[in-house]
Amino acid sequence: MTLHDIAAHALQVLDPEDAHRATIRLLAMGIGPRAAADDPPLPVTLAGLALPNPVGLAPGFDKNAEVAGAMLAAGFGFVECGTVTPLPQAGNPRPRLFRLTEDHAVINRMGFNNVGLERFAANLARPHRGVVGANIGANKDAADRIGDYVTGLKRLWGSADYFTVNVSSPNTPGLRALQTGAALAELMGRIAEARAGLAGAAPIFLKVAPDLEEREVEEIAEAAVQHRFDGIVVGNTTLSRPADLASRWRGEAGGLSGTPLMALSTRVLGQFHAAARGRLALIGAGGIGSGADAYAKLRAGASAVQLYSNLVFEGPGLVTRIRRELAARLKADGFGSVADAVGAR
Ligand SMILES: Cc1cc2nc3c(=O)[nH]c(=O)nc-3n(C[C@H](O)[C@H](O)[C@H](O)COP(=O)(O)O)c2cc1C
Repeated sequence: MTLHDIAAHALQVLDPEDAHRATIRLLAMGIGPRAAADDPPLPVTLAGLALPNPVGLAPGFDKNAEVAGAMLAAGFGFVECGTVTPLPQAGNPRPRLFRLTEDHAVINRMGFNNVGLERFAANLARPHRGVVGANIGANKDAADRIGDYVTGLKRLWGSADYFTVNVSSPNTPGLRALQTGAALAELMGRIAEARAGLAGAAPIFLKVAPDLEEREVEEIAEAAVQHRFDGIVVGNTTLSRPADLASRWRGEAGGLSGTPLMALSTRVLGQFHAAARGRLALIGAGGIGSGADAYAKLRAGASAVQLYSNLVFEGPGLVTRIRRELAARLKADGFGSVADAVGAR
């Protein structure tokens, strides 16, 4: 048993949120895994960003931008921090994070707990090597929710390598209403207007829920193209509950993530790929726990992928395993690069 195995076991018996806090502290102290030098390089371009590999860390793990450097060193090809809201926010009462161990799944109703933009910006300013994105959101009691996204974009412009506008958390009441119709058009219009007034360039993604009708997928893709968003992240946690969940926590309120989300989120990703017709970059997230899962997302149309929940069960060494398996699959199927497999049915 290695020290990492012992630590991983200790973290499994702690309350999930305490375990997460402990992990962040260890990583911030420099105690964490390091990618092996001989891990396969899998370079890919995502909306103009050069990534060393397409396997990213999904937001929610590093909400306050405390450990981006450590997670890049662990082998992630990019890291997305957040969701950050303009003002610090406590989130929902605990318990609000549940491990569905039998199902390799998680339910969370955190509710955007975070330290707010100013401390997030200070943390993000620490030196790191690699691509780090900022996932921006709105405070629960904001009078002008869309204004909160504009505030986040402006405050972090120049500090983050890319931005994700998160309108898909199920844990801030009413937030998902920004995904469609007039609210989406207003959100995107105001973001585009703010961006036009800023010097320099950074890609902007919209992060959606996997709980969408096909006509909503088409509407969102067209709106994103029209307002010059660079891409879509598909997607966030689901409010649905597959009938075969076994864990005693399956009835908890919140968003479900992890293995049971893989099929749903990959299907919706494929719908976005069809609707976007090459005009948007896609990031695939939801249920990835193996190289085969990451490969399936690429073939469904994602240029890069993100994961979080399966790290809880497998530990941070998972990223190296996924990269190796992905490299082997690309080679076995005759793809010379990651890009060649993107959208290859
Ligand atoms: C505990 C937890 C907190 C999360 N917090 C955020 C968040 O703040 N912002 C966000 O965009 N997504 C958040 N997510 C969603 C993940 O980024 C990801 O989209 C989702 O979990 C699906 O990926 P996975 O199945 O690999 O976990 C969170 C997920 C979990 C499990």
